[in-house]
Amino acid sequence: MLKTSAIQHHISLKPYNTFGIDVKAKNFIAVSSVEELKNVLQLKEYKEKFILGGGSNMLLTKDVEGLVIHIDFKGKEILKKENGQALVKVQAGENWHETVLWTLEQDLGGLENLSLIPGNVGTAPIQNIGAYGVELKDVFFSCEALNVETLKMVTFSNEECNFGYRDSYFKRNKGCYIITAVTFKLSTKNHITNTSYGAIEAELQKKNIKNATIKEVSNAVINIRQSKLPDPKKLGNSGSFFKNPVISIQDFQPLKTQYPEIPHYPVSEAEVKIPAGWLIEQCGFKGKRFGDAGVHKNQALVLVNYGNASGEEVWNLALKIQQAVNKKFHIRIEPEVNIY
Ligand code: EPU
Repeated sequence: MLKTSAIQHHISLKPYNTFGIDVKAKNFIAVSSVEELKNVLQLKEYKEKFILGGGSNMLLTKDVEGLVIHIDFKGKEILKKENGQALVKVQAGENWHETVLWTLEQDLGGLENLSLIPGNVGTAPIQNIGAYGVELKDVFFSCEALNVETLKMVTFSNEECNFGYRDSYFKRNKGCYIITAVTFKLSTKNHITNTSYGAIEAELQKKNIKNATIKEVSNAVINIRQSKLPDPKKLGNSGSFFKNPVISIQDFQPLKTQYPEIPHYPVSEAEVKIPAGWLIEQCGFKGKRFGDAGVHKNQALVLVNYGNASGEEVWNLALKIQQAVNKKFHIRIEPEVNIY
């Protein structure tokens, strides 16, 4: 049975979101098992239930009046190893980067390019986290999730998650399931590293590394991220605030004529992806500060909290940026982070 004394009241969520926004939770509980989670979800006195994982991909703009449920499940295990592959199951509340380092210590390959991404394991599939040429879907085997309505556990295969660019079944069906554990498919030997992303190649060349090991790739990624992206422990942020927009070749042609230097990556024969960071920088926002909300000096795609910004201030800045980009380029950039 659930001890209702475990519920805390009127606590600040500042330590629970990487933006460091100081909103309050009227009621808060950390749960560490599926049974506990089921019990909490059945509490009738709290109509609104707000699921909180690592808090790395959200902007909180108001106090939470209902019950915040912090997913704190811990544990990592190697389920099996065969034919050069391992299935590794990790509980949702484990820190993402610590999990990556743990797999590298076991000489398991696949997560190295995803080093140093803030957040927890359970939220990684929701937005199909990705960096430096690798996405979660490339190493994802399955996940376990609790259906919030029926309180039944369901296993989702890679295919069933319907992963897309910063997108998944879970993102498109918000609030239906809570991911409780993720199983990864990793390599146990003859690791195939992905160093094709320009910045990784350059970093390895700088160190004169050829045929990089998985640990060397991880270190290169860590160095790149540390040089470009602010550490949320020192400067509140949520990584990329917007998604990189994908536009049609027809819409792209006139832009290319007007801005011949515009960076772009083909997505299909008919579409290209434009780095939102470039669009935002062209609008003059890079490094700008408005009160305690700002745009990072090394990466215009990252909005930061200099200390005491409210969620609303950050959101107003995001809207200002969105409007400026739309006005100058006729492109609508959409937030990557969840706004509450
Ligand atoms: N750029 C600028 N100015 C900027 C930032 C970027 O001109 O201020 C242009 C440059 O041309 C640069 C290009 O954008 O070469 C790409 O920049 P970067 O390599 O930093 O990648 P990104 O597209 O801005 C994406 C992900 C990041 C991920 C990196 C590396 C999205 C929304 N973001 O950023 O993911 O780390 O690629 O793979 O897709 C995150 O999701 O939170 C995140 C940090």
